[in-house]
Amino acid sequence: MSKKIRIGIIGVGGMGSGHAMGIHSGTGNTIWSTQIDYVPPFPGEMTSNLPDFLELAGVYDINPARNEWAVNHGISVFENYDAMLTDPTVDAILIATPNHLHKDMAISAMRAGKHVLCEKPVMMSSAELLEVMAVSKETGKVFYPRQNREWDEDFLMVKKIYDEKLLGNLFNIKCRIMGSRGIPGDWRGVKEFGGGMMLDWGVHIIDRIVKMVPEKITNLFCHFTYITNPECDDGFQLHLTFESGLTVNLEVGTCHFVNEPLWCVYGDQGSAMIEGWGKDCKMARLVSWDDKDATPIMAGAGLTKTMAPRSGGKSVEEFTLPRFDFDRNTLYRNFVETINGEAEQIVTQEHALRVLRIMEACFESSESGKAIAFEA
Ligand SMILES: NC(=O)c1ccc[n+]([C@@H]2O[C@H](COP(=O)([O-])OP(=O)(O)OC[C@H]3O[C@@H](n4cnc5c(N)ncnc54)[C@H](O)[C@@H]3O)[C@@H](O)[C@H]2O)c1
Repeated sequence: MSKKIRIGIIGVGGMGSGHAMGIHSGTGNTIWSTQIDYVPPFPGEMTSNLPDFLELAGVYDINPARNEWAVNHGISVFENYDAMLTDPTVDAILIATPNHLHKDMAISAMRAGKHVLCEKPVMMSSAELLEVMAVSKETGKVFYPRQNREWDEDFLMVKKIYDEKLLGNLFNIKCRIMGSRGIPGDWRGVKEFGGGMMLDWGVHIIDRIVKMVPEKITNLFCHFTYITNPECDDGFQLHLTFESGLTVNLEVGTCHFVNEPLWCVYGDQGSAMIEGWGKDCKMARLVSWDDKDATPIMAGAGLTKTMAPRSGGKSVEEFTLPRFDFDRNTLYRNFVETINGEAEQIVTQEHALRVLRIMEACFESSESGKAIAFEA
């Protein structure tokens, strides 16, 4: 790569300190700053050599304790955000502050001549993002949304099933992210700071589904939950219908004391399931529709032959999808390559805009209680 980029990080709380540690150590391991033990990589996970193309210039946080944390880890601390922006050795800024601060920080960084890598949700609304996109165009500075979860291994496995039609034509995909701790932290539970689970997790799971399925959404219905927080959505159930008829159910919950599987994928030639992060993808592929041994089973107080399990082996083949290699530093590398004009931006501003518009349609649907005919 032609030019190494020096980056400053604004906000070194949970995520910012993960970035700081990852870039400072050269591994890209964005581990939480409180986690001091080594976190083993997932199977197949590689880390390209970050110092070849990205270097940490320093950090700044409004909370002195966080700056002290940085100093204790051998990381330079700027006097304030302005000092980071006026340092001529800084090429780019990584924004990892609460969501309501992203817009002004991104605009002032680009106006100061810096490229921007901005944590998700990049903005609070599509209107905010349009403003930022205009400044990116005017200044010629890269504005890169850090929507990183298209590189999650579980998603890569589902994408492989979709792209290679491993289960034939898919008719339904379910992805559920579930926990039982309510909305975590402080600002995440406050609307004006960009709190709520749609902005927090919705952005990730909508992002990658609409990138994987290259079709318009014809219908959208969303229901938000406010079980643990009356002000901010602590979860949602979203139903999307795509042009081809494929339906997708996306669910986030923070009041779930038993979890449903992370992914269920259904095609006309079989089904797949991934129970949780780091788990295998279990495949059941149809060999033959004939299953002459089917005998009725007891189903509650009655009998059913329709829902009797297949006799296995003969009519369905069961296997585990092989794990494959992936590089956790792909997004950092693409950010730098985009700045150097060596690659196309993988997570584009237009894509982030589409995701924000879908999220806004979710709010509209939940408030009205109605489905929305979308992306006509
Ligand atoms: N991409 C991901 O997987 C991922 C994961 C977690 C968080 N995030 C995103 O990262 C951002 C930060 O989230 P977090 O979990 O680290 O929150 P956090 O509360 O742990 O950290 C935010 C930090 O910003 C600091 N801060 C607040 N105002 C500031 C200001 N004016 N100037 C400088 N520092 C300021 C706070 O003191 C705090 O240390 C959010 O946008 C969040 O959505 C992304």
